[in-house]
Amino acid sequence: MNRIVAIYGSPRRRGNTATLLKQAVAGAREAGARVEEIVLRDLKLSPCLEIYSCKQDGECRIHDDFQKVRTLVLASGGLMLASPIFYYAVSAHTKILMDRFHSLWVKKHWAAQGRDLSPAARRKGLFISAGATRGERLFEGALLSVRYFFDTLDMDLWRSLLYRGLEHEGEAQQHPDYLNEAHRTGRELAQALVSRSLVPAIDA
Ligand SMILES: Cc1cc2nc3c(=O)[nH]c(=O)nc-3n(C[C@H](O)[C@H](O)[C@H](O)COP(=O)(O)O)c2cc1C
Repeated sequence: MNRIVAIYGSPRRRGNTATLLKQAVAGAREAGARVEEIVLRDLKLSPCLEIYSCKQDGECRIHDDFQKVRTLVLASGGLMLASPIFYYAVSAHTKILMDRFHSLWVKKHWAAQGRDLSPAARRKGLFISAGATRGERLFEGALLSVRYFFDTLDMDLWRSLLYRGLEHEGEAQQHPDYLNEAHRTGRELAQALVSRSLVPAIDA
């Protein structure tokens, strides 16, 4: 399944993580992937209201743009998620989306209607992030959230691209090495999805 969803989680349209994700999208397309781009700041997305009506069947009863994102993500083999670091976590836009996908976790674990994909069929996720400071632990909080979020989607954190010392809009553009790395990684993700689809799923 050579389809990838690219999610822009920054409020800045031309910020650092958006610049890097655009490179990854271009690389993946060059390698033949079909990539859908989603800009979270353009969507109508309520935060999770914790009403748990998803216990019935795993469907979220808040009807907004979440259903559109869910359909695209579940139809894809790979996800590229880009978020800046805000207070050692992902952005609020990104976190709202993560929480809405809890309906999928509920479906699998409480409504017992879902099933985990076999290891060969698990989706592959790329996380791209940037922060202004340079501390060793800058990405720890976000990475923990992203790993668990990806797992809810039957997805492994295939790779992460984490850039320190990027603050103002346009700074990522001044680092051709970062841009090249993001482009190359997008290509590699598309290629990894092609080779994965050649491996038959154990429980197919
Ligand atoms: C609300 C807010 C919180 C932030 N928190 C942090 C932080 O905890 N650590 C850090 O290094 N940078 C922090 N930053 C800086 C951003 O991570 C940095 O500017 C990043 O490059 C923005 O990426 P973007 O252009 O893709 O939005 C924060 C910025 C904002 C607006």
